Amino acid sequence: MENLEQLIAAAHAMRGRAYAPYSNFTVGAALLAADGAIYTGCNVENACFNLGICAERNAVFHAVASGAREFVVIVVATENGVSPCGGCRQVLSEFSPQMTVIMVDAAGHMRQATVAELLPDAFEPAQLNP
Ligand code: THU
Repeated sequence: MENLEQLIAAAHAMRGRAYAPYSNFTVGAALLAADGAIYTGCNVENACFNLGICAERNAVFHAVASGAREFVVIVVATENGVSPCGGCRQVLSEFSPQMTVIMVDAAGHMRQATVAELLPDAFEPAQLNP
């Protein structure tokens, strides 16, 4: 993909914007929308611990607030290349279950999976109208 390098660089850069004084675990995310636009996010923690937000959801909400709802790829950058938490998988699945999730670590290793692979048998919007 032409802009994959750009997406990966953006995710790494977003780690530097993370506000994670409690966990010291910084996460950056860069989301490629179907129209080619890139939306980014970082984790933002709070002294009231349960009010923090993950980088992936921050990126999705940033995108939706900007008018995008269809996504192709999200790159998630962490020190050790972890996969998105369950809550973020659900939020990603809401919009684009077939999108690719690329997980990168600080050393540049990467692996990938679709959201549907990470969250099989997801609860879907259509299931609200049986
Ligand atoms: N975090 C993310 O931003 N994304 C994930 O998928 C996993 C966890 C953040 C939340 C919290 O700020 C820190 O990492 C430690 O859990």
